[in-house]
Amino acid sequence: MRFLITAGPTREPIDPVRYLSNRSSGKMGYAIAEAAIAAGHDVILISGPVNLNPPKRARMVPVVTSDAMFDAVHEKVRNCDVLVMAAAVADYKPAHVSKIKIKKSDANLSLDLIPTRDILASLAKEDGKYLVIGFAAETENVEANALKKLRAKNCDLIVANEAGIAMESDENEVTIFFGNGKKKKISRASKQIVARQLVKIFQNVCEKRLTKKIR
Ligand code: CTP
Repeated sequence: MRFLITAGPTREPIDPVRYLSNRSSGKMGYAIAEAAIAAGHDVILISGPVNLNPPKRARMVPVVTSDAMFDAVHEKVRNCDVLVMAAAVADYKPAHVSKIKIKKSDANLSLDLIPTRDILASLAKEDGKYLVIGFAAETENVEANALKKLRAKNCDLIVANEAGIAMESDENEVTIFFGNGKKKKISRASKQIVARQLVKIFQNVCEKRLTKKIR
């Protein structure tokens, strides 16, 4: 199968030396890429800026901003079987990017922020052409928030985790919510172990859908 995986944060420039970003390390997305490759799948990894070695045999597409990630996903998604949106895409970006370094002064400074485009929500659901997997990092009401995102973003399944456990950590604990109302928990373990289980689940769902289509 052909996996398209996004990982890491995006950076939204403020001026030539500053940006807005988040604490995503990219470890979960990279672990999923490694696990998918180990299971014999083809992997394209669209990665925001992270301090990780690219998985051997992954086709890397490095990006920096949410706009660049948006374009890369749209370009590559047509030829994939499984899209895994593990990236922590910035939700806002500065309305104006200063061409020169903003100088310090004693006055307060406000940044005017505008929403970025939602990559998952922008993908036309082409009659199940590929499996769409979203991630939800929450600090509270994990289940309710994850289910809301599952529907709003047209995902086939969503992997929910607590931001406090997952962010910058080597471990994770996730609950997968499926479009048919089922859910499955993966207990706390290294991101490598969680990734292997996730890849098996994605593969199973994808195979089931393929057999349904052929019939
Ligand atoms: N996502 C996306 N494009 C964005 C923001 C998020 O495709 N501009 C994707 C993420 O990659 C993830 C899912 O949407 O798979 C949920 O991201 P998350 O940050 O948890 O949710 P948000 O929609 O940003 O909502 P909130 O920050 O309010 O929880």
